[in-house]
Amino acid sequence: MTEVVHTPRVFSGIQPSGGLTLGNYLGAIKRFVDMQESGIETLYCMVDLHAITVWQDPADLRHNTRELAAGYIAAGLDPAKSILFNQSQVSAHAELGWLFSCVARMGWMKRMTQFKDKAGKNAENASLGLFGYPALMAADILIYHSTHVPVGEDQKQHLELTRDVAAKFNHDFGVDFFPMTEPVIEGAATRVMSLRDGTKKMSKSDPSDAARINMTDDADTIAKKIRKAKTDPDALPSEAKGLEDRPEARNLVNIFAALSDQSADAVLADVGGKQFSEFKPMLVDLAVEKLSPISAEMARLMGDPAEIDRILGQGSARARKIANPILEKTYDIVGMIRS
Ligand code: TYM
Repeated sequence: MTEVVHTPRVFSGIQPSGGLTLGNYLGAIKRFVDMQESGIETLYCMVDLHAITVWQDPADLRHNTRELAAGYIAAGLDPAKSILFNQSQVSAHAELGWLFSCVARMGWMKRMTQFKDKAGKNAENASLGLFGYPALMAADILIYHSTHVPVGEDQKQHLELTRDVAAKFNHDFGVDFFPMTEPVIEGAATRVMSLRDGTKKMSKSDPSDAARINMTDDADTIAKKIRKAKTDPDALPSEAKGLEDRPEARNLVNIFAALSDQSADAVLADVGGKQFSEFKPMLVDLAVEKLSPISAEMARLMGDPAEIDRILGQGSARARKIANPILEKTYDIVGMIRS
């Protein structure tokens, strides 16, 4: 069989299940902007169908979807360059998600660490949607024949499963139809950690607001959170390898590096030898300089929700144009009559 060469196409998504954090920004959105500027076709989604795998109040879901769209745009995603849309407006995601639920195996899902983390001890009471979440995620990506998916490190396992789904589908039906998508996990902050505990991921669901920087935080709040961030008593080393057993120190240096588009080694070449009492104010200044314009622009965009809805409607129409022919072809391969 000759191998089909797929034209490069980038897809990624974020759940509108709460506010955006600095982790989402540095691990994902900032990378989305880089890829948009590289000239490849880019699609960025608010994955509302994924959000409801755990309970979402309907009014909150609507608000969070618009706020996420505002965050995308405020951070530099341009609806004229990237296709920005919410998942539920492109029904092909759910339809291919069903087909993939019949391709993926129970055992694959049981191994997913995100399911284990989210379901916790009470897995019997988790929704069926939460269990099957990665099949829908594979559909999000493969419904566009996407070749590259920028994400933070926590999504690596889901992207491996996406490749497994593509490979099993292609094998079962004797086709070379779905591409082997490449994860793009790059930059200085692929895993931003909690400001209170350097061994835990920064997360929108952390009960402590002090553990994270929200993209809607004002300058004073950002400054307070960084000043209070956990550190250790030692001075900063002059190379990144000196941070190996210092998770909190490493996290703050990585945040500095990602915000200033440098490597951790380049940052430490400048600040090595400084105490945190000197480094933290530098980080406050940098974070406020980079994040305040984004939060101000988000607030401005949220003043006109109808305009956000219009942008999502337009993006969804563009997304459907790519997704629907791929869905039709998939149904045909599977043997469904489409008259
Ligand atoms: P979600 O909504 O949890 O997170 C969205 C993106 O932000 C990244 N991220 C982080 N990166 C660095 N440090 C952190 N502390 C941090 N926290 C979050 C995530 O890695 C992710 O890139 N399953 C996905 C959503 C999804 C998706 C997709 C992604 C659904 N379908 C298809 C890509 C392609 C999720 O829960 O992301």
